[in-house]
This record gives sequence, C-alpha cells and structure tokens, in this order.
Amino acid sequence: MCGIVGYIGTREKKSLLLDGLKELEYRGYDSAGIALLTQGKISAYKATGKLENLALKTDCVTSEGFGIGIGHTRWATHGKPTEINAHPHWGQHAFVVHNGIIENYREIKDALQKEGIHFLSQTDTEVIVHLFESNITKHADLFSAFEATVEALHGAYAILLITTLAPETIFYAKNAVPLILAKNPKGELFFGSSDAPLIGLATEAVYLEDGEYGALSPKEITLFKNRQARPLQFVSLPQDKAYAQKEGYRFFMEKEIYEQARVISETLMGRISADSIVLDELSPELLEGINTIKICACGTSYHSGLVASYLFERLAKVRANVEIASEFRYKEPLLTPDTLFVVISQSGETADTLEALKIAKAAGLKTLAICNVDNSSIVRLADATLLTRAGIEKGVASTKAFATQVATLWMVALHIGALKGTIDQQTLASEIHTLLRTPNALHVKDGLHEKIHRLSKRYLHGHGFFFIGRDIFYPLALEGALKLKEISYMHAEGYPAGEMKHGPIALADSGLFTIALMPQTLLYEKTKSNVEELSARDATILAISPKPFDLADDFIQTGDHAHPMSEFFEMMLITQLLALEVAVRLGNDVDMPRNLAKSVTVE
Ligand code: F6R
Repeated sequence: MCGIVGYIGTREKKSLLLDGLKELEYRGYDSAGIALLTQGKISAYKATGKLENLALKTDCVTSEGFGIGIGHTRWATHGKPTEINAHPHWGQHAFVVHNGIIENYREIKDALQKEGIHFLSQTDTEVIVHLFESNITKHADLFSAFEATVEALHGAYAILLITTLAPETIFYAKNAVPLILAKNPKGELFFGSSDAPLIGLATEAVYLEDGEYGALSPKEITLFKNRQARPLQFVSLPQDKAYAQKEGYRFFMEKEIYEQARVISETLMGRISADSIVLDELSPELLEGINTIKICACGTSYHSGLVASYLFERLAKVRANVEIASEFRYKEPLLTPDTLFVVISQSGETADTLEALKIAKAAGLKTLAICNVDNSSIVRLADATLLTRAGIEKGVASTKAFATQVATLWMVALHIGALKGTIDQQTLASEIHTLLRTPNALHVKDGLHEKIHRLSKRYLHGHGFFFIGRDIFYPLALEGALKLKEISYMHAEGYPAGEMKHGPIALADSGLFTIALMPQTLLYEKTKSNVEELSARDATILAISPKPFDLADDFIQTGDHAHPMSEFFEMMLITQLLALEVAVRLGNDVDMPRNLAKSVTVE
C-alpha cells in the first residue's frame, strides 16, 4: 500500500522520482506527490489520481544540480484521496512521506494541537512532521529529534523525512512495511519501497529491518535500532529492467497471463529429477515430526492454499487446513508443535499474512513461506522459503503468481508424499510427468483468446456471476470469481457446484451467468448434474470442459487432458482471459482497478 522513493545526488530529480513512482504505482494510485530540496529551498507538488496527473502538473519543473527528493504514491487509509491528504505533508521546514499506519496518531495529534500546532490534512502521517519539528526544540540535534519522533510512533511505517535545516540528509525509519536503502558507485543514494524503482540506478542495497532508522547523506549513512548503531549490510541488486515492461501487451495482466507457461518452467527448474522432487529448502529438520499442515494467506494466495489443502491430504496424506490470515490473527488459534505452518504470499509483505507468521513463530511452529519476492519481510522471517519464481508481477490482479504458487505447492505435496511413502513410485513418476507438461496447458492456443474476446460480449450485463466447480476446481471457481470482480466490478461468487441447491440457486434466472468448470478427470457427472439444475432454472451457462455440453449457452472446449491438474491450469487460463476481456470491454483500467493496491501492507 503506498510506495515511496527517495534520492540524493545531482541528477534531474523530478523525473527520477516520477520514474521511480511509476514502478510503484501498482501499490496505490489515489494520489501522488514529490518534494524537492535544492540549494536550501524546498518545493512540493501533489496531485490526486494517477501519477500521470502529477507528471502533467510538474511538466515545467526541473530540479538540476545537487539536491534531494522524496516521492510518494498513495493508497488512502486515513483521510479521503484528496490533494490535501496526498503526501508529502509538511510543517514549517520539514517534509515527510510515509507508507503504513500510525496507530496512535490521534493521541499525538491531540497533544500537538494543544501546543497550538495546526493540521492541514486528515491523515495519520501529518503527525510525524509536526512531532519532529516540535521535538527539535526539546532535543540537542536534528537526529535526536527524529529518533524521539520515531520512538513515539506505534504502528507500521516506512518514513522519509527531509528538512531545510539539513539540506543534504534524508532521515528514514522502517517498521513492518518494506523500505530499501541503496547506493551506486557514483555516490548517488536512493530509497524505494521495493527493488523495482532501484533497478538500473543503484547497484547495492540494504533491506532494512523492522525498528531500524537512521540518516542518509553523501557524507555518512547511519543505521540504528533501539538507539544502538548497526552495521550496514549491502547486497547487490539485479540490473535487468527490461523484464518489467509490457512488451507489446495492452496490460501487464495480459502479459503476465501469457508469461505463465514460461514462468511455470522456471518454477519447476532444478526441482524435478527423472523420478523425484528435489526441494532442498525442505530440510529433514523442517519436516521431522510434522503431522499437520496449516496454511495461511489472503486473497488469491488463499485460493492457492485451498488447492494445496486438497493436494496435501490426497497425495501426502497429511491433515491440512487453510485459514484466511486476517481471521487467523484474532481467533486465538490452537497450534500444536506437530504442525508445519505454511504462509503463501506473492509480495511477501501482506500485513495479515506476516502477522500470522509471527504468531506461528511465537508459538514455536516450524514455518515455510511460499513467496514470489526474495528478501521480502515474510521470506526473511520464515524458517524456510520456496520462491515461486514468477518474476515481478505488476498487474494488481494476480495471475502468474497464483499459477506458480499452485505448481510449487503441488511439488511440496509430492515431496512430502514421497518422503512419507504415501505415494508409490509409479504414481510419483506419473505426477512428475504431468507436472513437467504443465507449461503446455498454459500456452494460449491460437484462437482461444479471440474466442473468449467474442464470447465476453454476452457477459457485460446481468445481475451477477456464479463460478462453480468441485474439488480443486472449487478454489479455482473462487479465484475465477475474484479475478472477474476485481477488474470488471461486476458481482461474482465462487461456489462448490454441489452447494448451489442449498441456497444460491434461488438467484438463478437468465440474468445470472454461470461459469461452469467441468473437468473430465474429476467428478464430471456430479458437476454436470449441478449445472443441469441451474440450466433448468434458466441461468445462462458458459461451460468450460473437454466434453461438449448440450445445455450450455456458450462453450469453451478444453484439451483432452488425463490429469486434473492439467485441466486445472487450462481452465485457470481461460477464467483469467475471460475476466480480462470483460474488463477491457467495460473500459476499465485492468492493471489498476479501483480501490485496490498490489501489496497490502496494512491490516
Ligand atoms: C487478487 C490479489 C490479492 C492478493 C492478496 C494477497 O488478484 O492479488 O487478493 O492475492 O492481497 O497478496 P499476497 O499474495 O501478496 O500476500
């Protein structure tokens, strides 16, 4: 949620900050702003809506020569998405950008207002800058004032603060949301909420830890935690920026759908030998004494967890259950030491999932992260990690990350099953055979996209969608519905096909669109009966199946696969393309759907 960037150096700062924010815009696009400090003077610019509005507003601004700059792209938490509430926020001489939530901002604001300080915005962030300025009068130097400010804040924050009193310095602090400090051999210094704005500019980075703060200037970089100085652990940054571009596709989401066949190959690479799954990350110590697997995640990642729960029980014969992380956090869960706690997250920064992981760790459980972003907070905290290797996912609606999560979890189920002896060698060999052919199911075949584009025309109106499926196709139904609703803004729900008659079927009529997932390898006849029940009540049916289905109003024929997982991946692809095409026809911004953000670092 929200993205921040910072820079110290001699380049033209406005463009550099805007370029950096562009890389982070998927994290929030309610408003954006920058502050530039050169030759002792600060100027700040803000605009509501997407970054292009700020770019237009600052068209004539240039910021040459040595100086510093900070920038922010916002996903509103406290206060409406207005220009006043956009970052940076300022006081007499200091300017701040912030990602996160200051939980005790009310008390701080009340105290500052009693000192006669006037607030302009409704945000929690504004307290930071006023508290800092107020602290200056009570402390020996600027850094002590900043330190005292950070110590007074409760909650999640990545903060960059600049002041005309220290025109070469950015003060920074990080707790529970990501912040990266970086540099290059030319002596330029950078901050970013993720690697993306730093790639191609910086060569080395420090992934800051929770509770760390300090000051960055060309003369010195300081890093503290609990008032103790800490060493700076620089690691090298990747340099390839090209992969983050759209490469001719209309949307990042579209590009990412098309990339799935390739990235799944990367997910599998080096992890499969002729007759076994090789997951070195799953050490014998990690799996020793494990009788239960508990999975925790949010959104799309939760759906891949649901798929995994079927696979773990069926293949590995291990009890498995899945929980939505935001629910798990507060339910006072009963955790037993024979449980492997698995968190799934594309970003590795989702606040609820991170907190669930902390709870599991505090309870002494062994923990495994399935994650797409190396060095993310979740990866750094978990005992072991399997990286999904989907590459940067920029579309807010997750596609390739989901595919790679499912493939990774399938491998984990096979690995545990093989270790426990619940899968015989012949079954394992056949599963591996299918796993290796997964990329084939994910190739967008000639004519498929065009057909979905044509069909999508029928599905622009009506009063809602049911996505239905059984077994692993039930989580796929949930995921198909989520994809559609988040980018088309149309109401869609996923259901187990057998559950319709227990209530939801009451909604059936011709304005109710049913997307029926009807694989031939798993419970075909059962699903078919459920679809027939809906058809008998006039629901409009789009059947996705290898077997022709007479009652369907529309039909997408899938390949003649012999394994449910191959059918799963092909149907996943179709539901993603359907959501994309409906949203495009409706004229929506597919990559930046309203009210959403890519990385949800608040609860
Ligand atoms: C939907 C989507 C979200 C995320 C959820 C968890 O397309 O992307 O539902 O799956 O916010 O995010 P991660 O996986 O980063 O923890």
